[in-house]
Amino acid sequence: MLPYAFLAAALLPILALAQDGGISGPTTSPDALGYSCDPTKCQLPNCNCASTSPPGGLKPSEVPQFIVFTADDAIQSYTLDSVNQFLAQRKNPNGCPIKMTYFTSLSFTNYTLVTDWYVAGNEIADHTMTHVGTPPAEEINGNLITLNALAGIPLSAIKGFRAPFLNYSVETLQLLYKSQFTYDSSAAASIPVTDPNTDAYWPYTLDNGMANDCLEVPGQCKGQPKLPGFWEIPMYAFFDNLGVAGPHLMDPWLDAANGDSKVNDTATLEYMQNTFTAHYNGNRQPIGLYTHPIHLSTTYPGVNAPMSTINMINAFLDWAQEQPNVWIVSNEQLLDWVQHPVPVSQLNQVESLKCTTPQVDASAKICNGIPGNEEGLLSHCAFSDFPFYTCYGCPTEQPSPANPNPPQDTSNGQAMRHRLPSNCSTPFWDPIAGNCLCNSQTCTFTDNSRAIGPNGANLTGGGTGGSFNQPSQTPTNQYIPFNGAAPPSLLPMGAYPAIILAVIGALIGTIGVASNL
Ligand SMILES: *[C@@H]1O[C@H](CO)[C@@H](O)[C@H](O)[C@H]1NC(C)=O
Ligand SMILES: *[C@@H]1O[C@H](CO)[C@@H](O)[C@H](O)[C@H]1NC(C)=O
Ligand SMILES: *[C@@H]1O[C@H](CO)[C@@H](O)[C@H](O)[C@H]1NC(C)=O
Ligand SMILES: *[C@@H]1O[C@H](CO)[C@@H](O)[C@H](O)[C@H]1NC(C)=O
Ligand SMILES: *[C@@H]1O[C@H](CO)[C@@H](O)[C@H](O)[C@H]1NC(C)=O
Ligand SMILES: [Zn+2]
Repeated sequence: MLPYAFLAAALLPILALAQDGGISGPTTSPDALGYSCDPTKCQLPNCNCASTSPPGGLKPSEVPQFIVFTADDAIQSYTLDSVNQFLAQRKNPNGCPIKMTYFTSLSFTNYTLVTDWYVAGNEIADHTMTHVGTPPAEEINGNLITLNALAGIPLSAIKGFRAPFLNYSVETLQLLYKSQFTYDSSAAASIPVTDPNTDAYWPYTLDNGMANDCLEVPGQCKGQPKLPGFWEIPMYAFFDNLGVAGPHLMDPWLDAANGDSKVNDTATLEYMQNTFTAHYNGNRQPIGLYTHPIHLSTTYPGVNAPMSTINMINAFLDWAQEQPNVWIVSNEQLLDWVQHPVPVSQLNQVESLKCTTPQVDASAKICNGIPGNEEGLLSHCAFSDFPFYTCYGCPTEQPSPANPNPPQDTSNGQAMRHRLPSNCSTPFWDPIAGNCLCNSQTCTFTDNSRAIGPNGANLTGGGTGGSFNQPSQTPTNQYIPFNGAAPPSLLPMGAYPAIILAVIGALIGTIGVASNL
């Protein structure tokens, strides 16, 4: 056991990392925008113009009010406990538990908890390895490789990205496009929906460039960057009594409201409700709770999260959920609905909103992301700055952007574990036996290789570590291609959501859905 003081010191940096993501006023203007898009040419599911109106020509009254719940930074017991205080007790109108999106950075992450969170149905997305703004390719792609190798997340399941500090550039978006991400969610919607110049667009593709953050990001907007089929899911700000001059984007509960000098939970609740109501009574653009859950942890040594704030956020969600047609979702669920919009009367038929539970024998001893099954089977990787657990064998050194998949450490005679191959789903893969528990058509899938890195290297997962990257003799911070200069294999962008849906649909016996819309 680590002494408490050591633990607190070792983990302190995540608090510093979490201080990101503020805006102080509008991040775009009508002059800077220069956006045009022809909705007769740009059509769902793989193209959508930036628009304040709901997708698919639906009337606002036919549209659900989505509340997107996201968390950023390290996945640890502390941060998952924190998220669970808000979501674990809730259900959506179809009776299913709430899913959310975790933008994961790898410093301080406990890999086994990433597996658990994913297998429980949540979305795992990319937030770079070491939490850097305007990240180089190896920070973005290295994260994919390590999440696949040490947490068993299929590459095709990692679809989204958020820039640390919300600091991105046109080049960042281009890198994401090259690595076959489906969406970015780093741009702000910074003007209230009640303003005629609002930038609160429904999620849209960059076929005609970006339409948010035009004043913030050089070279963006006026048609740039053009990335066909690649989505932006804007982050929708709350606004206090100061209106456009009082935006609150991430962790609004940490800010003082209405120009005051002190945080006041009552005032925060008031403006969160007012902004929600403006969306709900208007075009129902999503609302987002974009959290750094470490700030509201009640279990992290040294953090004293105020219970009044935790209770206020739950009061907000209780109040919102009492209104008809309100759904709390992950970004991938939101995007699936936007691509295939159906009126609220049909939401109980939407696959991506259904409950997904892998049917694994509860008595099976298999390291698969299900706590009951994997108990006693985890490897403990005792690195000094952040120890972690994993099902997939400890690496010889901590993963880093220069070496995201080091060889496996068997120096104490441990048996080599097998990483998730491209034809078995995470909850059914036994990394110790190297065996897929389910060989029937109903629970297998193919995790397509993904072009990764500036040289278009090709990655499909599997193996035992060390195989995507040959570390050079002299340590270097230079980018090392994973397997030479193989040409990229470019799937059409639309293929990934289809694959994931097929996987979820096929993998999982759906639990009965109460229709309570
Ligand atoms: C890491 O995961 C292990 C296994 O679930 C758990 O026992 C431990 O408390 C976790 N630690 C942190 C800091 O997340
Ligand atoms: C964004 O990140 C880059 C690279 O880390 C840094 O140089 C720059 O100052 C950051 N910009 C802002 C606005 O934080
Ligand atoms: C907190 O905000 C509420 C609602 O705006 C207000 O009535 C109350 O006076 C504020 N409390 C303090 C201490 O400022
Ligand atoms: C996955 O591929 C391996 C190697 O090609 C093969 O032996 C195995 O039967 C496949 N598993 C399933 C579940 O299709
Ligand atoms: C990528 O790797 C897979 C598995 O080895 C292979 O089947 C595929 O042909 C490769 N694609 C490219 C473009 O090299
Ligand atoms: Zn962050």
